[in-house]
Amino acid sequence: MISIAVLGYGTVGSGVVEVIEKNKEVIDKRAGKKIRVKYILDLRDFPGDPYADRVVHDINVILQDPEVTIICETMGGNEPAFTYSMQALKAGKSVCTSNKELVANHGAELIRTAKENYCNYLFEASVGGGIPIIRPLNAALTAERIELISGILNGTTNYILTRMDQEGCDFETSLKEAQEKGYAERNPEADVEGYDACRKIAILASLMTGKTVRYEEIYTEGITKITREDFLYAHKMNLFIKLLASVREADGGYYAMVAPFLIGENSPLHSVNDVFNAIFIRGNTLGDSMYYGRGAGKLPTASAVVSDVIDCAKHGRTHIVCLWDEEKLPLCSIDGAYRRFFVRAQKGCEAKARELFGEIELVDAGLENEFGFVTAALTEKEFAEKSGQLSGFISRIRVEEA
Ligand code: HSE
Repeated sequence: MISIAVLGYGTVGSGVVEVIEKNKEVIDKRAGKKIRVKYILDLRDFPGDPYADRVVHDINVILQDPEVTIICETMGGNEPAFTYSMQALKAGKSVCTSNKELVANHGAELIRTAKENYCNYLFEASVGGGIPIIRPLNAALTAERIELISGILNGTTNYILTRMDQEGCDFETSLKEAQEKGYAERNPEADVEGYDACRKIAILASLMTGKTVRYEEIYTEGITKITREDFLYAHKMNLFIKLLASVREADGGYYAMVAPFLIGENSPLHSVNDVFNAIFIRGNTLGDSMYYGRGAGKLPTASAVVSDVIDCAKHGRTHIVCLWDEEKLPLCSIDGAYRRFFVRAQKGCEAKARELFGEIELVDAGLENEFGFVTAALTEKEFAEKSGQLSGFISRIRVEEA
């Protein structure tokens, strides 16, 4: 029998307990041992809960119990999650987490500590909720040189953009709806400003490169400036607006970015709607592959945590190799990134747009005072310089090349 502890009895933590109870037969069979929840650490008590008798308030009870060999950290945030995880690993207890913030901040250090103490630090649930992506990157795709990872990594913003696209709603109305349905947090900043997707792509970029990609260095733009009018143009061009988080190998380095993009039907990400997430990966010999599913939610995320618990149970004190070094990887400046841009501008400056950008494709969405155009490919730096000289400039969205 394996005794585990769950740190944090919130949405994901209670989901972990639920998945273990619901699927116990198959889980015990696949783990090769019976898995039972011995402790739940939380500040609160849960009178009436079937697991109320397992709730403890002191981490030391768990750390000092030799029977507990696996810990699920579903607290979220940096502290005390970091301290508790380090203490657990140093005591030789494996840790399975859904905490993307902690993984993005300290992933390499936690993995090294696990290795030094003959146990594991696994984080399948930290990116893409229930979508298996960390294990594929560490196992099934290890023969590949990964050239590109591009994903829809945030369910809340994908839901908002889908409503704006399909129902013609504006941003505020769609956000309110997402909050009413429980998708968006009451403070939705981390989702709508792209910070959540940024942490997730930082984790994937680190696994792709084997070094640490700091999320603070990833250019990040959210969806708060996307309007109903943008979708009128997108429909005219038969394109879709998606918040993409991507990392790409190019020019002898790596470019990473989170921003809204216009994508076409040739992109497999175009039909990923509502709260679903998807991650597109291009390997040098495999070619293209994609991973799709529920990127958030209690049970999908909990299922990923429990899959890590099973992996830990199967491996005991054998460390599962995960190549993620603490050495920081400097990213290429996005100034040099090369792509087309869609621009909205006030009527009357078509000639100036041509003078600045050369050949452009005009787009008429039937709006009274403005027009749209798509540039030829140019660098971000060139685009910023030229658009700064266009007096009627309204806004721009990047165009994703397939
Ligand atoms: N707020 C996140 C999302 C939850 O909407 O995708 C999962 O990290």
